[in-house]
Amino acid sequence: MERKSFFAYAAVAIVAAAVTAGIAALLVNIFQRKQEARTPYVRVVEITENDLDPAKWGADWPREYDGYQRTAEPTWTKYGGGLVGPEGTLPPEKAQRDPWLTKIFAGYLFAIDYRDRRGHAYMLSDQEVTKRNVPSEAKQSGNCLHCHASIMPLYKKLGDGDIQKGLAAVSEMSYWDAHKALEQASPDGKAHPVGCIDCHNPQTMELRVTRPGFIAAIAKLAASDAPVPHLPSVERWRHGDKAKPYDPNTDGTRQEMRSFVCGQCHVEYYCGKGLTLFYPWNEGLKVEQMEHYYDNLQVKGARFKDWVHAETGMELLKAQHPEFELWSQGIHARSGVACADCHMPYQREGSVKISEHWVRSPLLQVNRSCAVCHPYGDDEIKGRVTAIQDRHYALLNEAGKAASEMIDAIVAVKKQYADPDMAAWRARIAKDPKLQELGELQRAAQWRLDFVAAENSMGFHAPQEMARILGESIDLSRQAEIKAVALASGRLPPAVPPPPVPAQPAAATPTH
Ligand code: HEC
Ligand code: HEC
Ligand code: HEC
Ligand code: HEC
Ligand code: HEC
Repeated sequence: MERKSFFAYAAVAIVAAAVTAGIAALLVNIFQRKQEARTPYVRVVEITENDLDPAKWGADWPREYDGYQRTAEPTWTKYGGGLVGPEGTLPPEKAQRDPWLTKIFAGYLFAIDYRDRRGHAYMLSDQEVTKRNVPSEAKQSGNCLHCHASIMPLYKKLGDGDIQKGLAAVSEMSYWDAHKALEQASPDGKAHPVGCIDCHNPQTMELRVTRPGFIAAIAKLAASDAPVPHLPSVERWRHGDKAKPYDPNTDGTRQEMRSFVCGQCHVEYYCGKGLTLFYPWNEGLKVEQMEHYYDNLQVKGARFKDWVHAETGMELLKAQHPEFELWSQGIHARSGVACADCHMPYQREGSVKISEHWVRSPLLQVNRSCAVCHPYGDDEIKGRVTAIQDRHYALLNEAGKAASEMIDAIVAVKKQYADPDMAAWRARIAKDPKLQELGELQRAAQWRLDFVAAENSMGFHAPQEMARILGESIDLSRQAEIKAVALASGRLPPAVPPPPVPAQPAAATPTH
């Protein structure tokens, strides 16, 4: 064989071998990726209902666990997240930016300590240190843990397997007693913030809701006739035989579950001492439907209230983070877009598509959260959100200003009477329909303002609905103010009689 042709044959053989090896490697790789995609995780440990600690789940699902852990990292946007100071400090008080909050909450714990929210990793520790929950004052009930801890073992233990009974039992306990009982009921002796077990079935990893408050409330909502076009499974259940109450875990669609898991906690609720925690959804999810429910709720023979305003003496309602309810009124819910679509977007790792478990503001990742449906550049998408949020913030402050001025006007009426104390003033209100009317207006204006202010998207989840509510709030505040000014400036006998004017007849008591 000639040397030349030997080398030529050898080169061809080597190339052929390399190509064959390459193809084989590619096939193996494709096969592996397909396998990976089919079984995206390998179980190295068995997980059961007793495994509260997400670290153990992390052995089986490291990618999701990594994301979950990152909720401890501080993040913020123009309006979102808690602007976090040096390591270890709490987010700022909301009243730093919006001082009117302190005035509208006068006499309530929210005037003392009310901060920006932050990542899920902090939910339990932030609740333990808030001045609204000082151990020596024991003001809060065990209900607070419903949304801030991985609490299911305690409900099951106290309810003997019946979680609604467990919820009722925890409602009877003080916060700190319930906290201790949770540690005792927890298999590892510790209380944890929300964990994998709260949203996933450990056997199948399917989504599930666990919170008794949500399960009871969504069943009541389904049983009502309030339209919920964004929840098709509720509409379907209503057309069925209704033999069993609506159950999100069996009736809900997979897409609905991607919002329901968040609706377990990001909702309006009541959880004061003496009442079992509930969400006021019996008549629907809209602001006036919940108001109507509260206004007709009797507690110990009196109309339901959250607290008595320290300046005006009126009985008011407090709203809490109604993200689920206001998302429900927006175009995205109507279009079938779930909380998880924006807050837990898919991401690719190799051939595996996983859900981002670092739950945070979508504005920190608009390319994954929004661009799948809105194919514009990052800046354009963010610009659209900022336009909504800036306008919303301006209107919110107008409503805050109107509410503050209403309070001042009612206080001016109160001063006219020079009642010795709050009890005397409250006794006067109880007898005077004109003063009661001011109270009704303050209650309605405040509820609407707070419902929007306590929501955390700065208008984004349902821009038009939130603007409508703020418009009503401003109108109600100004109505109260006009009536109060009229009352203070002539319709009432002056508290201090004016000095006598000799040449004129004595001032007559107003007759109108
Ligand atoms: C169409 C996308 C979208 C959907 C669907 C959506 N959100 Fe949002 N959400 C946003 C945007 C945008 C913001 C504003 C973030 C910011 O200002 O940084 C936001 C803000 C929030 C915030 C405050 C975030 C922060 O960092 O302070 C919470 C909490 C929240 N949403 C919860 C929910 C819940 C619960 C649902 C479902 C019931 C939901 N969202 C549905 C886009 C969405
Ligand atoms: C068990 C109750 C619970 C569940 C379930 C829950 N959250 Fe939260 N979420 C909270 C609490 C409490 C906080 C505030 C924690 C703090 O400030 O310490 C929070 C904070 C947030 C924030 C603010 C994060 C930041 O960095 O500022 C967002 C966004 C959010 N949640 C979205 C969601 C979404 C989306 C879901 C569903 C996939 C969800 N949450 C499920 C209770 C819950
Ligand atoms: C129905 C669920 C739910 C219940 C019950 C609940 N929380 Fe929360 N809590 C949340 C969610 C969601 C957030 C995050 C959104 C926000 O801050 O508006 C939050 C935020 C907080 C924060 C951080 C921000 C702030 O307000 O300073 C504290 C502290 C807190 N809750 C304390 C409590 C206390 C005390 C109770 C009992 C009176 C309680 N929570 C009951 C869901 C709940
Ligand atoms: C607040 C609710 C919530 C918590 C807490 C939570 N997940 Fe998820 N998880 C989701 C949602 C929503 C999806 C998307 C499911 C779907 O689309 O069907 C998901 C999907 C998954 C999936 C399927 C693959 C994927 O990524 O889409 C795995 C595995 C998973 N989660 C693991 C975990 C682990 C491990 C933890 C704890 C470290 C955890 N999850 C905590 C809500 C949650
Ligand atoms: C799964 C698809 C989907 C995702 C994800 C999504 N959107 Fe949308 N968005 C829609 C649909 C559908 C509409 C309604 C308009 C339409 O039908 O074209 C809409 C409407 C809007 C509007 C107009 C709102 C209004 O009131 O008219 C804005 C602004 C918007 N989206 C911003 C966002 C932002 C920001 C994100 C990410 C945080 C996002 N969207 C994520 C589907 C989506």
